Amino acid sequence: MQTSTNGNGKRSPASLPENSPTVNLVIDGLSHAARPGERLIDPINRAGLKLPQVCYHPQLGPVQTCDTCLVEINGQLVRACATFASEGMAISTISPKAHAARQEAFDRILGNHMLYCTVCDNNNGNCEVHNTTKLMAIEHQRIPFEAKPHKIDDTNPFYRYDPDQCVLCGRCVEACQNVEVNETLSISWNDPHPRVLWDGGSTIGESSCVSCGHCVTVCPCNALMEKSMLGHAGFLTGISKQALNSMIDVVKGMEPETGYGSILRVSEIESAMRESRIRRTKTVCTYCGVGCSFDIWTRDRHILKVEPLDGPANGISTCIKGKFGWDYVNDPERLTKPLIREGDKFREASWDEALDLVARKFTEIKAQHGPDSLAFISSSKCTNEESYLMQKLARAVVGTNNIDNCSRYCQAPATMGLFRTVGYGGDSGSIQDIENASLVLIVGSNTAESHPVLAARVKRAHKLHGQKLIVADLREHEMARRADIFLHPKPGTDLVWLSAITRYLLDNDLAHEDFLRQWVNGLDEYKKTLAPFTMEFASRTCGIPLETLEKVARMIAEANGMCALWAMGVTQQSQGSDTSTAISNLLLVTGNYMRTGTGAYPLRGHNNVQGASDSGSMPNNLPGYQSVDNPEVCTRFEAAWKAKLPVTKGLDNHEMVDAIHQGKLKSLYLIGEEMSLVDSNANYVSAAFSRLDFFVVQDIFFSATCRFADVVLPASPSLEKEGTFTSTERRIQRLNQVLEPLPGSRPDWKITQDISNRLGANWNYAHPSEIMSEMASVTPMLAGVNYERLDGYKSLQWPVAADGSGQPLLYTKTFNFPDGKARLFPLSWTGPVELPDAQFDLHLNNGRLLEHFHEGNLTHRVKGIHEKTPDTFVEISPELAKERGVQTGTWLLLISRYGQVRVRALVTDRVSGRELYMPMNSVESPVNLLTSSHTDPATHTPAYKETSVHMEVLPEVGESPLPRVNSRFGHPTPQAGVEVARKWKRSDYYLPGSRLVQIQLK
Ligand code: SF4
Ligand code: SF4
Ligand code: SF4
Ligand code: FES
Repeated sequence: MQTSTNGNGKRSPASLPENSPTVNLVIDGLSHAARPGERLIDPINRAGLKLPQVCYHPQLGPVQTCDTCLVEINGQLVRACATFASEGMAISTISPKAHAARQEAFDRILGNHMLYCTVCDNNNGNCEVHNTTKLMAIEHQRIPFEAKPHKIDDTNPFYRYDPDQCVLCGRCVEACQNVEVNETLSISWNDPHPRVLWDGGSTIGESSCVSCGHCVTVCPCNALMEKSMLGHAGFLTGISKQALNSMIDVVKGMEPETGYGSILRVSEIESAMRESRIRRTKTVCTYCGVGCSFDIWTRDRHILKVEPLDGPANGISTCIKGKFGWDYVNDPERLTKPLIREGDKFREASWDEALDLVARKFTEIKAQHGPDSLAFISSSKCTNEESYLMQKLARAVVGTNNIDNCSRYCQAPATMGLFRTVGYGGDSGSIQDIENASLVLIVGSNTAESHPVLAARVKRAHKLHGQKLIVADLREHEMARRADIFLHPKPGTDLVWLSAITRYLLDNDLAHEDFLRQWVNGLDEYKKTLAPFTMEFASRTCGIPLETLEKVARMIAEANGMCALWAMGVTQQSQGSDTSTAISNLLLVTGNYMRTGTGAYPLRGHNNVQGASDSGSMPNNLPGYQSVDNPEVCTRFEAAWKAKLPVTKGLDNHEMVDAIHQGKLKSLYLIGEEMSLVDSNANYVSAAFSRLDFFVVQDIFFSATCRFADVVLPASPSLEKEGTFTSTERRIQRLNQVLEPLPGSRPDWKITQDISNRLGANWNYAHPSEIMSEMASVTPMLAGVNYERLDGYKSLQWPVAADGSGQPLLYTKTFNFPDGKARLFPLSWTGPVELPDAQFDLHLNNGRLLEHFHEGNLTHRVKGIHEKTPDTFVEISPELAKERGVQTGTWLLLISRYGQVRVRALVTDRVSGRELYMPMNSVESPVNLLTSSHTDPATHTPAYKETSVHMEVLPEVGESPLPRVNSRFGHPTPQAGVEVARKWKRSDYYLPGSRLVQIQLK
């Protein structure tokens, strides 16, 4: 699928919504409508007038550095990008004065930029400098190009900066400072030869740059370029540097004689030729649950670049993984042949042989031990359509409800907390609603690393719009450092302080009484269970000063709207469901539901962890959370699927492992999950896999889990298939096929269909759209979902009514219970099941890293990511390091009650005292060799975060596990934005056109 922009890399400005208030403008003598306070540039663009605007990007707002958008109002020159529309304004874009001023402004830009478009990798129809040269019909440059005394910076693995091509527009700075809010970039306005600076003057490689790519995405020219583009995009750009320079000289030599017009025409022919071999395909990121969507540019199988344009969840944003993390798709180790175990080895097999074997073994095991001796695990990396087919295979073909997905490992407790209190198991609003909150409360979520683009929105609202931020976590990570209040409760005690604050608000008349009266049931019973949760008890139990707790309570009470965000720091505890419930209870007591800027946001970890459950890959629910034991539901599905369905709840992932050990479960079909590493107590899980009679693993690489398989089936990754993902916002988005499946591999939905048909299913799905239509027809929550409504960048947020209307914000009219009211859910606190003791004296926390996704099966294959973050490590506080004689690089043996790992130390004040942190990005030293089989009783989600270890200091001291080129060693330079006022104060700056005017006036 090709997508298009208006040719300058920007989406065309939207037309005014009907019935929106308007003011009347006169632009070049014609009347136009605008919104009051709208930037003039927007109605000018809507009117189709061709006004230059090099530094303007709608998603950045006015940067005001280029002066190419000058227009005349009442004889004054003003920047159209920074002047706001008001009633009756008369604007001239065509006056000689405005025209001359723009020429002068653009001359200055060309003085900073050498035009060699024909041999430039950015000559793809969307280069702002090229397009403006053409638009302004520039033939000759009045200010000659002058090289700057700065070298190209090539030190980031993914992109490079060429100061000679930099037009100093500052878009990159604005994006880094105020969209990504990593605050790495600035411009040295006081320098005689200004340039973009990383950390005020570091190399890019050694700066705080997190390689999110925002700056590269918004750069209007080739100053910042993805390295994957260089030498690959153009017909002539792959030639040697020497030849390239000679060609540039030839082209420049022609300019005085021919003018730019004819040179640009040649480059445009070259650019048009590129259309025939560069494909731009919209897809959705396969990593975290934020749901970033973007165009991927490809030339054959080479990924030229990822271009986020205007994704509904992400706008122009991405993180390092979404922007640059795709090398794995072409990794030589991709599986391309099915494998069949023979003794201790695997041999390659044909698809037919492998699929026949799978069908035969499933049939035999079912015949011998019954359908419940088989189990199925779908992948939260796969599409909704694939998860739907997987659970249909389990239920309608095999006849078991033994089907689950990895939301069991992270999200199930949050879903439970929401089902108990408000009725839907999903985020109650959108990322936009989080941005609108006056207070954001983050509990147990390293948002800046696990959900980077969503975190960027919170960072922006906090930096620019006065949003308040409270963070509760064991680690002082980036969000904690930015917070107005950072709470560091003792491990496993979040439920206590949350409940104590709730009680305090109720006791002190700070609850939202009207909301409670109108919308909430169960207050009296709930209040009784709050009795133990005094502030004093919370202070003692959680180790948080009383005054801090009271301050937090008052901030919550005073907030005009609070969103609560939480993740695995809450859910992966033995009371994960209860703590999630406590968060929702607090939101209800304070009236923080039912409007924008409020609500509950359990941040979904995988790209489609929400969708895997929505699609019915759960042991107790058919698609759309319709219970397997509801006779009406069952009858409806039996009629639709023409099969008798099992009506008792099946085994979840955790129970499956136990059932294998007990000899009850004989066979497992697992799609795309590295379960032997990511399930807790990995040794126990691996031992279970070795006991299976027949184990099928479907994946794109030979994962650690594949070692236990009897048959390995080579699947295709997201870029090689069609389908939909559902992000944390309940946003359903289509991914289009970017690349053909690597020969030998197949999309998961096709494999599942092939297996099902060999078991007699007679399915004939020719395309995932047909699967989605079927799913929508049996799932009221998805009734109006179809591929037409999801075309291009369109998306839908469930529940989606039959007419196609979705619900970006839930509970605007009622809560999802029969009487429309929410429910306060009584709670008690039992405390963590596994605390440090004399032998295992340290608490081990674990989680994600920004650069890697989970165990790193995909991201370790991305050369640049591996270079920056090559290994795992354990974070140790400076005080503990001193006590135990440990330094960064010291090898340690961590021993828990369940296993041990050898790992290097990283001494950092992100952790404190006797609390350790280990990221999960390792296959060699997986943290789950240390975690236990304890679970949250309500959901069986493992209590990953309740792990105690003994630390043995080994004699070897190695290098730092994080190299110097990791962004964590950088020193950001926060500032308000591009700070153009500093440019305006330069002695050599004057507003283009203004000197001319003075001369003319004289
Ligand atoms: S963090 Fe790095 S890649 Fe991201 S916008 Fe800033 S400088 Fe660019
Ligand atoms: S590098 Fe930054 S300042 Fe330079 S042209 Fe690109 S976006 Fe503008
Ligand atoms: S990993 Fe998440 S934040 Fe990063 S690009 Fe993908 S969806 Fe966006
Ligand atoms: S577009 Fe207005 S100053 Fe650059």
